[in-house]
Amino acid sequence: MGMLDGKVALITGGSRGQGRAHAVTCAREGADVVIIDTLTQIDTVAYPMAQQADFDDTVRQVEALDRRIVSVVGDVRKQADLDEAVTRGIAELGKIDILIANAGIFSLAPAHEMTDEMWDDMIAVNLTGVWKSAKAVLPHMMEQGGGSIVMTSSINGLEPGANYVHYCAAKFGVVGIMKTLALEYARHGIRVNAIHPGAILTPMTSWQGAWDMMSGKPAGEGTEADMLEAGYSFHALKGNGFLDPQRIADTALYLNSDLASSVTGVSIPVDAGHLLMPGYNADPVK
Ligand SMILES: NC(=O)c1ccc[n+]([C@@H]2O[C@H](COP(=O)([O-])OP(=O)(O)OC[C@H]3O[C@@H](n4cnc5c(N)ncnc54)[C@H](O)[C@@H]3O)[C@@H](O)[C@H]2O)c1
Repeated sequence: MGMLDGKVALITGGSRGQGRAHAVTCAREGADVVIIDTLTQIDTVAYPMAQQADFDDTVRQVEALDRRIVSVVGDVRKQADLDEAVTRGIAELGKIDILIANAGIFSLAPAHEMTDEMWDDMIAVNLTGVWKSAKAVLPHMMEQGGGSIVMTSSINGLEPGANYVHYCAAKFGVVGIMKTLALEYARHGIRVNAIHPGAILTPMTSWQGAWDMMSGKPAGEGTEADMLEAGYSFHALKGNGFLDPQRIADTALYLNSDLASSVTGVSIPVDAGHLLMPGYNADPVK
């Protein structure tokens, strides 16, 4: 017996990275799945968005578990795309019980050099996209008398990080959306919670800018090996370097299951103790 038997889960950014781990975990636990992801590059992002091969792989993995999957190419910045994913999910799979609002982007610049486009893209995807995703499922969840929404924030929704003020603003904002919707829709049996991942190995962290940032090396000099090594310093818990996306999917599984039937409005860091560590100025100005 699975922890999500008979459920249907909608996952944004569901074709790869953490999104794929969510899709496959939901399927393994008995849920049918709807994924929505984009194939269109966002100009202010230095690493590629999802590719068709990512969609194909996730579809294959879910179907190999004998679950059904509806795969939608769309953009969380567009309400019509999200509404279409919900409509198709209900038409083909019967309902939507779970939303995992996971889609997100990352980019880097000192605040005084950040372009308006970088700011606008970040807020549109990582903040407004989460709200639009919730808006797409809420009427249906109200009608069916309940549901579970998990929003992917970040440790940067709880602590600042230099050179990505737009990301922090969006991820702190996700906590505001989460808590407000948890309160507003509690009377409808809809639970809303947030996960705050630490450093996770996905395409978002597989590019030069991430290698430099995590390793603390000058621009262009960090390697993936440097970044993976630095992961052990980023986290506190023994043996925890960069985390597997499965760690996040496991926590979403708990939140979306009956084990968490009385849990709403909470933030769960999955950061191997990162937030426990006292601060350290690695680059003091004297
Ligand atoms: N990787 C990390 O270390 C880390 C840490 C904390 C939080 N997060 C968050 O976890 C979530 C998942 O990221 P990931 O690490 O799996 O990275 P990822 O880049 O592999 O996955 C993000 C997915 O979102 C999709 N996406 C981006 N913009 C979209 C849009 N406008 N419409 C639809 N889909 C869109 C991408 O195509 C991609 O498939 C993100 O919200 C991210 O901010 C990641």
